[in-house]
Amino acid sequence: MTFREWLELREPADAAARSRELVEHLPATDRHVIHDLGCGTGSMGRWLAPLLSGEQHWVLHDRDQELLEVADVPGHSVETRQSDITQLSAADLAGATLITASALLDMLGDEELTRLVGTCVDAGCPTLFTLSVVGRVELDPPDPRDQRMAAAFNGHQRRTTLGPDAATAAVERFRELGAEVFLRPSPWQLGSSHTELMAEWFRGWVGAACEQQPDLAAEAGDYSQRRLAHATVDHVDLLALPRSGR
Ligand SMILES: C[S@@+](CC[C@H](N)C(=O)[O-])C[C@H]1O[C@@H](n2cnc3c(N)ncnc32)[C@H](O)[C@@H]1O
Repeated sequence: MTFREWLELREPADAAARSRELVEHLPATDRHVIHDLGCGTGSMGRWLAPLLSGEQHWVLHDRDQELLEVADVPGHSVETRQSDITQLSAADLAGATLITASALLDMLGDEELTRLVGTCVDAGCPTLFTLSVVGRVELDPPDPRDQRMAAAFNGHQRRTTLGPDAATAAVERFRELGAEVFLRPSPWQLGSSHTELMAEWFRGWVGAACEQQPDLAAEAGDYSQRRLAHATVDHVDLLALPRSGR
């Protein structure tokens, strides 16, 4: 499966999981200029655009040019920018009324996240970071190996990035810089209508766990073959509002 196919497969589950309640906290405006960081093919825009009133201009940022070539938010004006979002400055986001990202934070290291949060705060507009993994999963039917696999998967992410710690770190950085932060859970609830997504996610999750902790691989044969009826994969959505007067 290509990365683009993976994004397509997860889009409906992502849309169902993101918190609509946080969107209600966004200030109303006649014209939105929204910068979506790590946009992929534009899934965040396709979810958020119908929830906003007023004219919208979307600026879609990603380092992957192939994804940008197909990225779209139908019905709205869109520009794409190939960039490393960890290197953006407030000038790159000048005029933004909202900064968004989805399923991005866990891919960042501590310094990258700190810099990105600083840039967002300097831009002086709300920031909505959705679907950050928090390292908890609940599988049904349960298996005694589930928690060891989860710990190993989280360890695998932490090798190179903040992984499941990214959302907590982002909250701290935003608060240190005076922003007001709201959090809402946004778990994937995967069941009988998501069998392909659940199988693909589980395969990748077990694979990373076994790479991190090779002794788990010996036990993983029947584990990775099992059929899940349901999987809850916890995420959190974060909205940071600039302090009034900025
Ligand atoms: C898990 S995907 C999520 C894509 C999209 N936001 C969505 O919800 O479907 C993460 C995306 O972030 C992009 N990305 C990760 N790190 C990046 C960076 N430092 N600069 C630009 N894009 C980045 C990847 O290319 C990928 O498209």
